Amino acid sequence: MTTLIKNGRIITATDDYFADILIDGTTIRAIGKSLPGTYDKSIDAAGKLVIPGGIDPHVHMQLPFGGTVSSDDFESGTRAAAVGGTTSIIDFAIQYHGKTFAQTLDDWHAKASGKCAIDYGFHLAVTEYEPRHAAEFRQVIDAGVPTFKLFLAYPGVFLVDDRTMYRVMRSAGEAGGLTLVHAENGVVIEEVIHDLVAAGKTEPKYHPISRPPVTEVDGIQRAIHVADLAKAPVFIVHVSTGAGADQIRRARDAGQRAFGETCTQYLYFDESKYDQPNFEGAKYIFTPPLRPADNIEPLWNALRMGYLQEVSTDHCPFNFKGQKELGRDSFTKIPNGGPGVEDRLMMVYHAAMQHGFSLNKFVDLTSTASAKMFGMWPRKGTIAVGSDADIVIFDPDREQIRSAKTHAQNCDYNLFEGMKIKGVVVTVLSRGKVVVENGKYIGRPGDGQFLKRGECARI
Ligand code: URP
Ligand code: ZN
Ligand code: ZN
Repeated sequence: MTTLIKNGRIITATDDYFADILIDGTTIRAIGKSLPGTYDKSIDAAGKLVIPGGIDPHVHMQLPFGGTVSSDDFESGTRAAAVGGTTSIIDFAIQYHGKTFAQTLDDWHAKASGKCAIDYGFHLAVTEYEPRHAAEFRQVIDAGVPTFKLFLAYPGVFLVDDRTMYRVMRSAGEAGGLTLVHAENGVVIEEVIHDLVAAGKTEPKYHPISRPPVTEVDGIQRAIHVADLAKAPVFIVHVSTGAGADQIRRARDAGQRAFGETCTQYLYFDESKYDQPNFEGAKYIFTPPLRPADNIEPLWNALRMGYLQEVSTDHCPFNFKGQKELGRDSFTKIPNGGPGVEDRLMMVYHAAMQHGFSLNKFVDLTSTASAKMFGMWPRKGTIAVGSDADIVIFDPDREQIRSAKTHAQNCDYNLFEGMKIKGVVVTVLSRGKVVVENGKYIGRPGDGQFLKRGECARI
């Protein structure tokens, strides 16, 4: 099957030019003007941007968490991702105590296999690392999973101690892998939560008070220091504070391989969302929480300056009805997480343009940097001869209103409900197959394949 995308304006992280793209099967065969030959299918992209498919390296589909399970499974969540212009995701396979790394990956493969609309990979979230696990490290990397996640939050559930952090970072660093850290001081947070609840302070507005910015800064500092001791690169996930991003800047300035991301929600909203009546604040209960408004511009600046490399979602949706409501009597019982995998690319485009970012930088933040950071480059994250034909045809001028009434995410609310934005995903190709046409999903479960990834953090 050959497809020609013609008349489009191709934007990569470095280039901006008009040309046609010839796709042969799953990959890009040629790029140029007036390409000779005949094609099975032709798509006119006149007036549109032609960009690499988005990569969201931080999602949690069908995650058992907070006494329930995140409401998007691999089928609905990857379908929603495709509709939003994302053609690769990386989910977190979480090692439950007693499980080997191989068993953990098998469990996650069983959840995702044959279901996905787009390509998917896994990070391995390690919760236990004893000498018996060490031999498995190489096998995990060879199986296409070169990234390891550590939680410094959620005591008794996912939290790891500093010994485990050091062991994992050292092994990952030696093997060419990368350690991702959810950086908070989870132990102190647990004490603060205990005190708040004892004082009867249980409404959603106490969620940010229970995990103030300093707890994130503390976690980031500790992760960076331990990574330095382990002589390993480190990547901080979902950075929500300007001060946290500044810790990464300082480490980078000092020559350390420290990296990080923020998420769409931290670039748009502040903690006033928790003050809404009728328990509406529960919709914004995710961790880390939304912050005082003066964190938003420093996060944009960290992206502009390259202290943070990309924007993910931490997509971990729970329905308001029946799931968020589990915490009607206490914020501690509200499952932590929110939707966003479908919204990300368009929301980032809209705000990035308002912030004076270039189209190239927009592509870098939503696709290219993640491909390089997480071992997918140059197969993913660009439009080039030989790369996978993961391509989005994007209307930069059309306006839309984000809403749960029209989104594909399996969640009864949308974080960006009612917001009018510029920029619409029109057509999406995943490895050469059109999976979204005129904004409508036309693919099939199983179109997406497991993405074996290689060496990381070559950026
Ligand atoms: O609230 C969140 N972020 N839920 C998902 C788990 C995590 O911490 O990433
Ligand atoms: Zn996290
Ligand atoms: Zn997460």
